[in-house]
Amino acid sequence: MLTYERKGCTVRTKMTYDEMKEALKKRLKPKRFTHSLGVAETAVFLARRFGVDEEKARIAGLLHDCGREYEDSALIHEAERRGIPVSDVERAMPILLHAYIGARRVREVYGIKDAAIEQAIWRHSVGAEDMTDLDKVIWFADMIEPGRAYPEVERLRRLSREASLDAMVLEGLTQTILFVVREGHLIHPVTVAARNALLLKGST
Ligand SMILES: [Fe+2]
Ligand SMILES: [Fe+2]
Repeated sequence: MLTYERKGCTVRTKMTYDEMKEALKKRLKPKRFTHSLGVAETAVFLARRFGVDEEKARIAGLLHDCGREYEDSALIHEAERRGIPVSDVERAMPILLHAYIGARRVREVYGIKDAAIEQAIWRHSVGAEDMTDLDKVIWFADMIEPGRAYPEVERLRRLSREASLDAMVLEGLTQTILFVVREGHLIHPVTVAARNALLLKGST
């Protein structure tokens, strides 16, 4: 096991960052790989702004979608064979499972043993009620990386430069829920819990 250190952060991994990048490139479609580079870059920017470990943010950002190497139709099987519980909402929208499978793949493929990175990847899709700062950074970086294009994205990018971490993520969760409702999709209950938690935190 090789350990590499940067700026006081130690992430236990078998690969250097460039090796991870090469391995990921071989496993993802080009568009998804470019998106991953964008999330890594944005995650580092947010990590610096909010005092989060930059190295963990860079790695979690790069690898957050590594579970997308599987076809959508294979995700339920890939989750179940790893013992990951699949809820009714996730069974109806198996794409959500790529986050949990990705959290396992960082260890299986990239040799990373880092609970904070694994958790941030696990939570990057639907969020969590008790998100850490790293979880929030990765979740939001995924929404606003340079390749993203949707009506609200410029406003959310402005928040990433001006708002507090919680205010920024709260607005991101609100926009996500509004979008999902407008599209007529199911809302993952954890996303609602994540937003409620931030609202309750702000009102106390
Ligand atoms: Fe994702
Ligand atoms: Fe993503």
